[in-house]
Amino acid sequence: MLRTSTCGELRKDDCGKEVILCGWIQRMRDLGGMTFIDLRDHYGIAQLAFSIELNKELYEKAKTFGREYVIKVSGTVIERSNKNPNIPTGEIEIIVNSLELLNSSDNVPFTIEDETDGGEELRMKYRYLDIRRNIVRNNLILRHRMAFEARSFLNQLDFVEVETPVLIKSTPEGARDFLVPSRMNAGQFYALPQSPQTFKQLLMIGGFDRYFQLVKCFRDEDFRADRQPEFTQIDCEMSFITKKDIFEIFEGLIRHLFIKLKGIKPDDFLVQSYHDAMKYYGTDKPDLRFGMRLVELNDIVKGKGFRVFDDAEMVAGIKVEQCAAYTRKQIDELTEWVKRPQIGGKGLVYVKINTDGTIRSSIDKFYSEDELRKCADAFNADEGDLLLIMAGDKAATRKALGELRLEMGSRLELRDPGKFKCLWIEDFPLLEWDEETKRYYAMHHPFTSPLEEDIPKLGTDLANVRANAYDLVINGVEIGGGSIRIHDKKMQEKMFEVLGMSKEEAYKQFGFLMEAFRYGAPPHGGIALGFDRLVALFAGTDSIRDVIAFPKNNAGRDIMIDSPAPIDEAQLKELHLKLYVKK
Ligand code: AMO
Repeated sequence: MLRTSTCGELRKDDCGKEVILCGWIQRMRDLGGMTFIDLRDHYGIAQLAFSIELNKELYEKAKTFGREYVIKVSGTVIERSNKNPNIPTGEIEIIVNSLELLNSSDNVPFTIEDETDGGEELRMKYRYLDIRRNIVRNNLILRHRMAFEARSFLNQLDFVEVETPVLIKSTPEGARDFLVPSRMNAGQFYALPQSPQTFKQLLMIGGFDRYFQLVKCFRDEDFRADRQPEFTQIDCEMSFITKKDIFEIFEGLIRHLFIKLKGIKPDDFLVQSYHDAMKYYGTDKPDLRFGMRLVELNDIVKGKGFRVFDDAEMVAGIKVEQCAAYTRKQIDELTEWVKRPQIGGKGLVYVKINTDGTIRSSIDKFYSEDELRKCADAFNADEGDLLLIMAGDKAATRKALGELRLEMGSRLELRDPGKFKCLWIEDFPLLEWDEETKRYYAMHHPFTSPLEEDIPKLGTDLANVRANAYDLVINGVEIGGGSIRIHDKKMQEKMFEVLGMSKEEAYKQFGFLMEAFRYGAPPHGGIALGFDRLVALFAGTDSIRDVIAFPKNNAGRDIMIDSPAPIDEAQLKELHLKLYVKK
């Protein structure tokens, strides 16, 4: 090693030691006769001291250096007179007796400190500099430790990590595929896997009992803070199991991670049906760190002459505790907020249960005080509470109220980042109707089995067939999803038929799986956890970019390496491709 110690490890006990350190210059301060350098490496920061009195030559040399220069120093550890309680090495400094320049640095485009002046795009362009910052480095170390602990936990339970291919075949279901042209097979394309779903099922047919893989998945989807075109799953599959086994094992994995990495024992995981989640929270990924459940009011408010409510499929609301004192301006601002296209609300009705015993609303004209009180009772509202009510189509109203609930939860600081509420959502619908293409799509994926008791409905009542599928939700984030799979050839054929595929088409796309089902496929099921989302949750950030070493920007570009990028004519020709757009 070029050094004897790292910049983060020296303490008061080390005083008197001769040490050699290497690192980057984080900061320099010249106090006239004394120069101090904060030297940074992966492990921390050490203060170096240069004194004109002790060594004029070194003092002068140090002053010629700048931020981010890479240096090697040797010196003696001494106790500092001016201690810094904010860093672990804050009690010591090193009196330098030799100084070597290992590399200089140009002026960096942003300051490499916790509070940086660099905007996100600039930091992404120079991501290798951003990674020098504590926050990014610590997130990546957290990610490593979580991956390590997940592997160790699953290994203990006999899960075997198996790698599955990255060059596979495009299939019509799910998100858009990323495609890779084949040089050796003119006009043909590989697809990058959206997940290793069919391969892990084939591993079960191949006799593996428990599989897992920390695996890259690729989806050409629109960007969101919790989505990247390439992301990582902790992907798992097991044979001869039930949903209950999956819940137990993966609750165990999440608990293990919380205990090892955050020293927290989360509350017992709740289990809620999709139906109830939608009814009470307006979303299939409820944040249960706070209450504020949706309350449906159709029975109470309809038929009193207020057209907006009378014409609506659903009238429902939330109770915001102790906010009856909201001003007109505050309510107007909330009304504008729900009308934004992302939320899609048509308007907002309020009912204030005032502390002076009166009850006032924006619909006083249509409802007597008694009727408003009935509303308040439906919410179990107390004096001082505010009811926010919306009306419209059932699905849209629930969605908008669900968003409003989250917004009010955030504004009232009810979404404590130090608190974690984990739950399973189960009994999802098997199928989802798409108005545009006028057909059903699998809500999870086409390999998910229907609930046993709903199988008879497959011929007659498709909309109400429930799936043996489940999601893991933590603090309102969909962390994972899985299902018990179809393992019977006939049922799989039926499923493709329901999805509007002809038998020929189904065999063309998924013949390999149906073929495999002929040779003793065991009952099996599994789950995949979104690893980036899980790390982001543990790191306390909303954006998974913060926990990915080299993420894409919101247009799906890597602006550091400038990708995607055009390829030259010769490459195109070799791949048998012709472009329809000008480069
Ligand atoms: P699913 O599509 O639900 O299931 O994905 C599993 C989990 O992966 C995460 N995830 C993403 N994370 C970041 N960026 C994305 N673009 C992205 N898309 C999904 C989510 C999600 O819950 N093969 C099935 C699993 C199974 O049935 O076993 C699958 O991939 O956290």
